[in-house]
Amino acid sequence: MCGIVGIVSKKNVVEKIYSSLTRLEYRGYDSAGIAVVAGGIDRRRVEGKLSNLHAELKKKPLKGTVGIGHTRWATHGLPVTKNAHPHSTKRVSVVHNGIIENFSELRHELERKGYKFTSQTDTEVIPILITYYLDEGEKPFKAFQKTLGRLEGAFAIGAIFADDPKLLMAARKGSPLAIGYGKDEMYLASDAIALAPLSQKISYLEDDDYAKISINSCEIFDKSGKKVERIVKNSGISGGAVEKGHFKHFMLKEIHEQPTTIAETLTAYYDPVHHKINLPKAKFDITKTRRINIVACGTSYYSGMIGKYWIEQLAGIPVEVDIASEFRYRKPVFERGGLTLLISQSGETADTLAALKHAKENKQHIVSIVNVQQSSIARESDIIIPTLAGPEIGVASTKAFSAQLTCFAVLAIALAKNPPGLLQQLVDTPSIIAEVLHNDCYEEIADILAKAQSVIYIGRGTSYPIALEGALKLKEISYIHAEGIGAGELKHGPIALIDKKVPVVVIAPGDEYFTKTASNVREVAARGGKVILISDKKGCKDLKDVTYRAIEMPNVPSFITPLVYSVPEQLLAYYTALAKGADIDQPRNLAKSVTVE
Ligand code: M6R
Repeated sequence: MCGIVGIVSKKNVVEKIYSSLTRLEYRGYDSAGIAVVAGGIDRRRVEGKLSNLHAELKKKPLKGTVGIGHTRWATHGLPVTKNAHPHSTKRVSVVHNGIIENFSELRHELERKGYKFTSQTDTEVIPILITYYLDEGEKPFKAFQKTLGRLEGAFAIGAIFADDPKLLMAARKGSPLAIGYGKDEMYLASDAIALAPLSQKISYLEDDDYAKISINSCEIFDKSGKKVERIVKNSGISGGAVEKGHFKHFMLKEIHEQPTTIAETLTAYYDPVHHKINLPKAKFDITKTRRINIVACGTSYYSGMIGKYWIEQLAGIPVEVDIASEFRYRKPVFERGGLTLLISQSGETADTLAALKHAKENKQHIVSIVNVQQSSIARESDIIIPTLAGPEIGVASTKAFSAQLTCFAVLAIALAKNPPGLLQQLVDTPSIIAEVLHNDCYEEIADILAKAQSVIYIGRGTSYPIALEGALKLKEISYIHAEGIGAGELKHGPIALIDKKVPVVVIAPGDEYFTKTASNVREVAARGGKVILISDKKGCKDLKDVTYRAIEMPNVPSFITPLVYSVPEQLLAYYTALAKGADIDQPRNLAKSVTVE
């Protein structure tokens, strides 16, 4: 959460900082700011989105050859201007992503020394502590280094100094930080996406590294203060990968990219000559696994639930699935040499990373399905099974979810020793999804959902996690209350919610569970509920008399229904949010990458 950028150059850096921040706005958009060294420290800060900062910069331009910028997802303190980053004193200005856990103790110590605080944030202790060391006579580099030694928690920091207009300092502990190499210009950002149009030459700081960056050089030091080299790689991210193209929103673009991203993910593992799956090489034999713990958050967790169904049904390996924020607290019993599988689009989700560390401490093999291959979760894993979805910018996860499902499908097939038929079904999936994308019924049904106060989603078998995912998509971008419920569970309480004002979205592919789900549909209709049925031709016909609206899907084998049936849900959520005029790519209170627990 929070996006940070820093640039040191021979030219004015403000415009480039601003434009890099626009590519990080998915990380948070509660407030924004930029600071530069121009004589002393000068800064502009605003409440709300970057567009407000743009307006502020127009009114009061800012100029400098070294600067830092920030887009915030609030943790400590309200999302108001006084809490916006950069936080500054006369001598130093700082941007920060993460949490300083011992901020309260440091703040009291500095207040006792006579330093004044102006915000409610944990971050402000950083510039004030650096200032204290500067006031004690230390040079900027040493003052920064000494400050790092006092900070506890997880953070990525960028700092500039009034006394040295050619210096940009950076540090990483837990939160990612990329350094970009340009010509007579160096960059710093929370991720390589932000720097895509500026530089593709990127190195990543490792945990506890800090860096001294100037116009033509970057010196990196490890925790012990030893100078270290970090590999400079080509990020491979083009500027265009983070553009909306002709789509109105990133979410819509990403939904439409799914035939391609599923195919690309599948291609990475599918050997068409021998018609089998090749998993990434590992130091241990993944196919000998006797039990798996799957751990993730949000949408990634729902893909894990489907992974459980597939792995247990196809390979007969017992699987447990946990939400990452609870995994450690339930104190799971680990089997010696067992396998924990983490799923994360960003690879930075703090709860998932903490679960990974817990499993590692308990001597588990660590496998992760991640979209960002340079992420912390990827780096901490024994094997990664990458999703090749490309950058996902919309806060609502869509193409990353279907790429995760693709990885789970190939994993289940590999663990089951390549049973016949299933691979071909996966190969056919992208073209089936392309067909589903072109159905023209979504907007009309979304207008119905947009008028509801509450929407229920039901499904059975693998359609149950799809119901949960549909409800999450709807609530996070349209702010309509939505609940996903196992179709059979409805009668154990939630059916009391049903009346004629409550649309019930039913995920009912023509699989072995259809007849049972059909009975649940009739129970809903008998209580006046408005049934929005997602089913195939036969299903729509069988339930026509009790259906308010239907989305007719192609006939698909039951194995791939989660991949195919999640698409109409994504489009329903999108068009409902559009009808409500909601901020689709940046829904309120959320951020794309959740790096706090
Ligand atoms: O980056 P991750 O996959 O670890 O993120 C997990 C969740 O925060 C994420 O899936 C979230 O639920 C999405 N906003 C849902 O669309």
